Amino acid sequence: MKQFQIALLGFGTVGSGVYRIISENGAQIAHREGIELSVGHILVRDFEHEPNLELAPRALFTTSFDEILSDDSINIVVECMGGIEPAKTFIIRALEAGKTVVTSNKEVMSKNWPAFEKAAKATGAGLYLEATVGGGIPIIRTILDSMQANNITRVMGIINGTTNYILTQMTENGQSFEDALKDAQALGYAEANPTADVEGYDAMYKLSILSSMSFHAHMPIEVIYREGITKLTKADFETAQLLNYRIKLLAIGKKDGNKIEVRVHPTMIPATHPLASVRGVFNAIFLTGHAVDDVMLYGRGAGCMPTASAVVSDIVYACHHEKQHKYMTFVNEASMSSEIELVKDFHCIYCIRLNVADRPGTMANIAAAFAEQGVSLKSVIQLGENDGVTSRITFLTHAASEFGVREALKKIESLSCVNAVESMIRVEE
Ligand code: HSE
Repeated sequence: MKQFQIALLGFGTVGSGVYRIISENGAQIAHREGIELSVGHILVRDFEHEPNLELAPRALFTTSFDEILSDDSINIVVECMGGIEPAKTFIIRALEAGKTVVTSNKEVMSKNWPAFEKAAKATGAGLYLEATVGGGIPIIRTILDSMQANNITRVMGIINGTTNYILTQMTENGQSFEDALKDAQALGYAEANPTADVEGYDAMYKLSILSSMSFHAHMPIEVIYREGITKLTKADFETAQLLNYRIKLLAIGKKDGNKIEVRVHPTMIPATHPLASVRGVFNAIFLTGHAVDDVMLYGRGAGCMPTASAVVSDIVYACHHEKQHKYMTFVNEASMSSEIELVKDFHCIYCIRLNVADRPGTMANIAAAFAEQGVSLKSVIQLGENDGVTSRITFLTHAASEFGVREALKKIESLSCVNAVESMIRVEE
């Protein structure tokens, strides 16, 4: 039976899960797959602050990456340290040494993919990243190995569990953003510094990977429009409820010919949409292929065992492809291909809520400002406040130009009858 030795870089949530799966399920994997996996080294920063030392034999732990690099028996290096450095340097050095790399690190991967793939191809090493998107959901392999017949025209997903938990709390329990975030932190879903999740960076890294793979064109993070969930208010959720929508932080990629748009932002979707039923910390990714039509994958997007499941799946895949590794199917250049036209003027439905003076002419002036920009209105709901002076008006547009809507809102904001543009949320049907 073929034997493969693995080195783990990092022994936190993901690394310890990988060790546990290999220890507990190694015999079954050997029986089913015909390969014997073992862990040869575990790299930790220092022994003093390592909380999981008791989970593996002491002899496996090292603080020296060079020890791993110079050990010829190590075939596969699993990077689950997170962050940029030293993960980036270790990945490059392992690939240059001809060792296959499996990573769960979406940030380092999305920021350095072309350099990593170049280094991998130069030595014939493998580079695998199933665990970077959607935790235990097998989305990368689905795109790579099961969607070859398709031109993927859309990828749309809930790919951040922390924000989905917060939005679920705001929807179902009427919590404020601040209270829902505190709950998420108390439950260990959100970090003490939640910026990467709540401002949409984590989803942006993952969308860069997903859309690059789906559209066979590199979509660096710089071309992705990003907006987080921190400005959402209780009134936004009341509006969504009124219109029978749910608010989700969606990562959206669309391709039409050579035109591609990639964006992460709070989005209203019909309450009946399959993604609307994805609650709490769960993730789901919705793909549309020209042949297969719609496919949705659902599961746990983070956590020790789900993420380790994806890592071990990559390890097994890498072992089976050791003679001829499979790389991603796009030209791996640092910037976006010049053949692609990046769409910044999105066309979608907009839900806009205004606080206005409740007096004659208000509606006419606002409607005129939309009309000037070619923005057609689909529905208008006016809810008067009890003071008889102000009212809240919610507009739902037909599919409209983002630039047109923004121009119209600039004009509307300047009208004396408008107290405030309270929110503008994009809608996907
Ligand atoms: N913080 C991420 C999430 C998990 O909440 O989904 C790791 O990407």
